[in-house]
Amino acid sequence: MPSKRKGIVLAGGYGTRLYPLTVAINKQLLPVYDKPMIYYPISVLMLAGIREILIIALPGDIPKYKNLLGDGSQYGINISYAEQKYPNGLAEALIIGEDFIAGDSVALVLGDNIFYGNDLQNILKSTNQKQEGATVFGYYVEKPQRFGVVEFDEKGKVLSITEKPKNPKSNYAIIGLYFYDNKAVEYAKSLNFSNRGELEITDLNKKYLDKGELDVKLLGRGFSWFDTGTIDALSDASEFIRIIQKRQSMIISALEEIGYNNNWITKEELLKAAKKYIKTPYGKYLEKVAHGDIINSQF
Ligand code: TTP
Repeated sequence: MPSKRKGIVLAGGYGTRLYPLTVAINKQLLPVYDKPMIYYPISVLMLAGIREILIIALPGDIPKYKNLLGDGSQYGINISYAEQKYPNGLAEALIIGEDFIAGDSVALVLGDNIFYGNDLQNILKSTNQKQEGATVFGYYVEKPQRFGVVEFDEKGKVLSITEKPKNPKSNYAIIGLYFYDNKAVEYAKSLNFSNRGELEITDLNKKYLDKGELDVKLLGRGFSWFDTGTIDALSDASEFIRIIQKRQSMIISALEEIGYNNNWITKEELLKAAKKYIKTPYGKYLEKVAHGDIINSQF
């Protein structure tokens, strides 16, 4: 019987590149068009079929996330919370989450990453099926210097991953969604702090690469990916969500809808959520989903 994968949303960080927006409000609580940013990464885990989710945030922010998301039962998932006292790096999520992961495999998603694409759910589901090793995702970016960058040979085999290289070997950045088997906690614990004082996710990925256990899936032109860490990127992401939602008359990352389509909540529970938000397009949309007017739209 394969173990069930757990999910972690890493929603700490000081968000200094968004000051003054993030002086009093944590980045992942900011709106991306019509919903809080953290809805988007949570939806990715749900679309992969993951129901046990840990949210890691700065101590002072945990009550706000609890206020927003509760225990997750309204979406048919189970949310728990853990503190990251300081932004010590992405790989620390695996160490903080050790008890929660409890020897299972795990998917880690960054709280400020947004994924959108037609085939996304299938890719997430098939990645979730793989029990051994790690899977990460590469995406073409203009400025790879800001990311962990993958080097490939002519057959597409991964040769190296380098964090924030001065001379990048490709334009493919590793983006903020990582699937790991149950060795991730042990590997994370063996990492040293980098020169910038963080436990680097790139170093964790390198451990898998060295063992020949790292898959890098490239997301092509059918996908849009946003890291919403700067003012322009945040504004672009909001605009993107607004336009796609308007064009398609569907809502991206409506968590209750995903829970309903996964058969994790009943029609009555969906209608209850619709009623709570009925003054908004979000609530009216959930009502349409419950009445069968929107047929199993994913994401
Ligand atoms: P970053 O954007 O690298 O860091 P930040 O959010 O603190 O922003 P800034 O650079 O503007 O100060 O973080 C990427 C994501 O990971 C973001 O969702 C916050 C989260 N994060 C943590 O939760 N803990 C950490 O230790 C780090 C480094 C990031």
